[in-house]
Amino acid sequence: MFKRGRRLRINNEIRDLVRENTLSASDFIYPLFVVEGENIKNEISSLPGNYHVSIDRLDEVVKEILEAKVKGVILFGIPAHKDACGTEASTEDGIVQKAVRKIRELTDKLLVITDVCMCEYTDHGHCGILNDKDVDNDKTLKRLGEIALSHAKAGAHVVAPSDMMDGRVEYIREVLDKNGFEYVSIMGYSAKYCSAFYGPFREAADSTPSFGDRRTYQMDPANTREALKEVQWDVEEGVDMVIVKPALSYLDIMHQVRSNFNVPVVAYSVSGEFAMVKAAAKMGWIDEKKIALEMLLSMKRAGADMIITYYALEASKWLKEN
Ligand code: PBG
Ligand code: ZN
Repeated sequence: MFKRGRRLRINNEIRDLVRENTLSASDFIYPLFVVEGENIKNEISSLPGNYHVSIDRLDEVVKEILEAKVKGVILFGIPAHKDACGTEASTEDGIVQKAVRKIRELTDKLLVITDVCMCEYTDHGHCGILNDKDVDNDKTLKRLGEIALSHAKAGAHVVAPSDMMDGRVEYIREVLDKNGFEYVSIMGYSAKYCSAFYGPFREAADSTPSFGDRRTYQMDPANTREALKEVQWDVEEGVDMVIVKPALSYLDIMHQVRSNFNVPVVAYSVSGEFAMVKAAAKMGWIDEKKIALEMLLSMKRAGADMIITYYALEASKWLKEN
């Protein structure tokens, strides 16, 4: 029999009806960079449309997020002082803790997620406590527990450890439970690759390692089975949601995580993915809106339930126009 696939594409109505995946503002989580100081809302040069914001101007940004109908933010803090142990990452009046309290005060319609890591807070820029020239896994766990707990105390709904230390999900879960935060979720950066796509973020967050790289803790981009193993361990340790990061070059990993595990999958479309599109758009080489929405849709198709993206606000506005 002659097969006609085009029958199901002949008009808008049928295309709408047979569409398998969709994008909406409620898929998106917006990354927010909070800084010490007053009256600051400075655009990050490599991440156009994203800002360094001080606590006193969070209300403007939160209003925009709510208007866009975006459901969540993930907070990154840039502290005033750094040291070897990343002390300010877990203090009650740390920058993220203050931002969490402020956002919770401003609204109860926004899920507040915090990135749990040390690289923005350590003077050496690594994601944990150092021994002789490498990150000490088990010493770092203790700090991660303290950081996650301080975020929970400030009112975070979800903590998202991005350090890639072994055993952190189990350790953080135990600390949270012991302190009465059984309902604070853990969104694990479970499959996090050692990627060059993080460049613009590290500039924005001032978190570039001062020596070496992150290859002893973040995963080798050549590996698939390793990602499935990491996700499996996090699931066994009690993770609530798992992140695959970066997104665009790792859609195969996302698809396999979706197929093999029954936890929500989060795509983290990272800074380098965003910056490449912005740069090409600025040159007039691509249709930014169409490319950005197509990229985000591909993450849904690969199996993501939600997407952390620097396009969250812009894409939500574009989707409303459609
Ligand atoms: C901190 C962290 C990083 C990102 C999220 N959390 C940087 C890194 O691991 O070096 C990257 C996000 C992005 O590039 O958008 N560990
Ligand atoms: Zn880190």
